[in-house]
Amino acid sequence: MAMQIFRTKHITAHSDTDQALNRCLSAWDLTFLGIGAIIGTGIFVLTGIAAATQSGPAVILSFVIAGFACAFAALAYAELSAAVGGCGSAYGYSYAAFGELMAFIIGWDLLLEYAISVAAVANGWSGYFNNALTAMGIPLPDMLTKAPKLGGLINLPASAIILILMLLLIIGVKQSAKANNAMVVVKLITISIFIGIAAFNVHPENWHPFMPFGWYQVLPDGKTTGVLAGASLVFFAYVGFDAVSTAAEEAQNPQRDLPFGIVASLSFCTIIYIVVSALLTGVVPYTDLNVSSPVAHALKLIGFNGASALISTGVIAGLTTVMLVLYYGLTRIIFAMSRDGLLSPFFNHVNCKTQTPVRVIVICGVFMAAIAGLMPLGDLAELVNIGTLAAFVLVCLGVIVLRITKPDMHRPFRSPFSPLFPVLGMLSCGALMGFLPALTWRRFVVWLVIGLIVYFTYSIRHSKLAEKS
Ligand code: ALA
Repeated sequence: MAMQIFRTKHITAHSDTDQALNRCLSAWDLTFLGIGAIIGTGIFVLTGIAAATQSGPAVILSFVIAGFACAFAALAYAELSAAVGGCGSAYGYSYAAFGELMAFIIGWDLLLEYAISVAAVANGWSGYFNNALTAMGIPLPDMLTKAPKLGGLINLPASAIILILMLLLIIGVKQSAKANNAMVVVKLITISIFIGIAAFNVHPENWHPFMPFGWYQVLPDGKTTGVLAGASLVFFAYVGFDAVSTAAEEAQNPQRDLPFGIVASLSFCTIIYIVVSALLTGVVPYTDLNVSSPVAHALKLIGFNGASALISTGVIAGLTTVMLVLYYGLTRIIFAMSRDGLLSPFFNHVNCKTQTPVRVIVICGVFMAAIAGLMPLGDLAELVNIGTLAAFVLVCLGVIVLRITKPDMHRPFRSPFSPLFPVLGMLSCGALMGFLPALTWRRFVVWLVIGLIVYFTYSIRHSKLAEKS
């Protein structure tokens, strides 16, 4: 048994996979891919919720703290994505570093990260969509735009956009790097419009009190508040830089360009987040920001109705690509796990007519549409964060383990100050997990227990590694 759960997968050099895919992505394409997947609901929606309920104007500190944790994890990702071949996900690294059980757990964890992220971003999308409908004079009733926990029946636009994306993916709409780059430009123009207007409308008195909720406290209802709790919520805004590493097989020069793409996209987004969160809390009081479209709302409050509508349109377009990238990522991970025998081959069936994995797309789409309609954004984001943070902790540990077990492995990029930086990554990501509410932990544990049942009843016997050994 111990032999089975610790069996590791052979590390394939990047050159082994050269024929498989067209290596067309440059370092800048990868950076744009990262920015495309990173900037989304986190900055456009959660900044408002975190400022109003957890951090106050100190939400800027929450972004800095979460950014530090991500920076350590990003360096670890950069090292492993350049050194370990194959699909390049954290699932692949842990198969090489820790063995099969851990790889399964990370893969299972990534399913949670990606599936719930799509549902969470759909919630953000719905907020801006409703904002646009309201501006056109055709608002939807609250019953159809809010989850039951928030007093509604279902968040219909959030479910509907996922089902529409599901249909697009089934008929095989492929996101090219070019289209992604165009959407990133739209997002960046949207942010520039906000920065351009907000910079001249700051009222410094809005930054006082700076830290109304303190550093950290647990409320009687079990929810958490304070700058550190805010950091563990806005961490969601950084989720997605790991998507760069899943393009390893399509990068022109993965060993040089992947670390560049990961570090550059994360650094750029961190700067944008700090500027936007400082301005958002500077133009209106933080107490006004607990709405589903805070960036557009703030501009409306200061009298820029036209710009507010423009921003809503940009955000609606920008969030659609985030969902598409994450939805693709999800199907890719299920594919990889199914190909390795850890999930049923039912999932790697490709429909011969459409040439797409219709089964996985439909099952995931229906599941995510239901979750998006019934759970509020805050709960979803926290669940994504706990899953992603757990994966980051293990990726940092993977750097340390592989340096010991495979010291001679070719490492084109080395995380600096190892093992100090990976250890700091583990500590900071672990601490952010600790600031999440107990309910999120319970949901996470339930998900992991289901995963362990799947592993020990199915995967352990069907693993492709078992056939080879
Ligand atoms: N980081 C992505 C977002 O904020 C998932 O939407």
